[in-house]
Amino acid sequence: MKISEVIEKIKKYTRGIDALNGTNQPIRDETSRDIVAYGSVDKECTGIATTCYASVDVIRKAHENGVNLIVCHESLFWNHGDHTEWLEENRNSVYLRKKALLDEYQITVWRFHDYIHSGIPDGKGGWVDGIFKGFLYKTGLDRYYVPAIRTPLQYSMPIMLNFQGMKVWEIADMIMEGAGLNGIRLIGDPETEIHYACIPMHIMFNDNEKITMIDKRNIDLVIAMELIDYTVNIYMRDGIQLGDPKAILTAGHFNTEEPGMKYMLHWLPDALEEEIKTIYLQSGDANHYLLRK
Ligand SMILES: [Fe+2]
Ligand SMILES: [Fe+2]
Repeated sequence: MKISEVIEKIKKYTRGIDALNGTNQPIRDETSRDIVAYGSVDKECTGIATTCYASVDVIRKAHENGVNLIVCHESLFWNHGDHTEWLEENRNSVYLRKKALLDEYQITVWRFHDYIHSGIPDGKGGWVDGIFKGFLYKTGLDRYYVPAIRTPLQYSMPIMLNFQGMKVWEIADMIMEGAGLNGIRLIGDPETEIHYACIPMHIMFNDNEKITMIDKRNIDLVIAMELIDYTVNIYMRDGIQLGDPKAILTAGHFNTEEPGMKYMLHWLPDALEEEIKTIYLQSGDANHYLLRK
């Protein structure tokens, strides 16, 4: 099968409705993040490697495994839209060497982002966000999932969970084990008993709505993809200091989304309707934690 057909079949398998930007219109290729970030699609696919990020090591391993298509979730060249003019202009040294590696191994990289978030079949006639379904399934947290009401798409952010009094450290263990992580960052006390938890949209800058949601819905634990200091982080700390059972666990954006790309191996054969070699390559956990002795 040609790489172009592989991409079309994967896209066709998904719901294809723009769930991220809230338009609820079919995803348009001109505006979606899902682009061929590198290489030709007009050649036979020798195999597919799924990953969150097509790092240099992932490219090397894909080649070692004899696959010539990397399906990644995040951008290849460190910017939204994978623009490369600025890198060419500045003769960026890492860019030039990464590009040379892709050329040498003849590897094509396709970014699979909006389509996988738009939904994959849940097997019961509905749709689930393929990334967060994967995260919750691989970590075992899906058994605590509280279904969202009035939505055609489940497992979409903000994701609500009901842990019924589980301790933070127990939840942290499940995430580290299931996502294959070296560790996880905790704000709060590991012994805190958690009832309601949520995985919110990106915590980045304007987070007043998230803070209101945390308050109104009695959220004890935020499982954050990324975490800046000056919004939700300090809000939860003040809650803790006022005696609330609050905590934050954060493994990082890519570490949280990567299990969704591993989970992709479960449904890829159905999407492709043909036997093609498929492997998963973990691009993280890139974090190591040094603790003061
Ligand atoms: Fe992401
Ligand atoms: Fe994502």
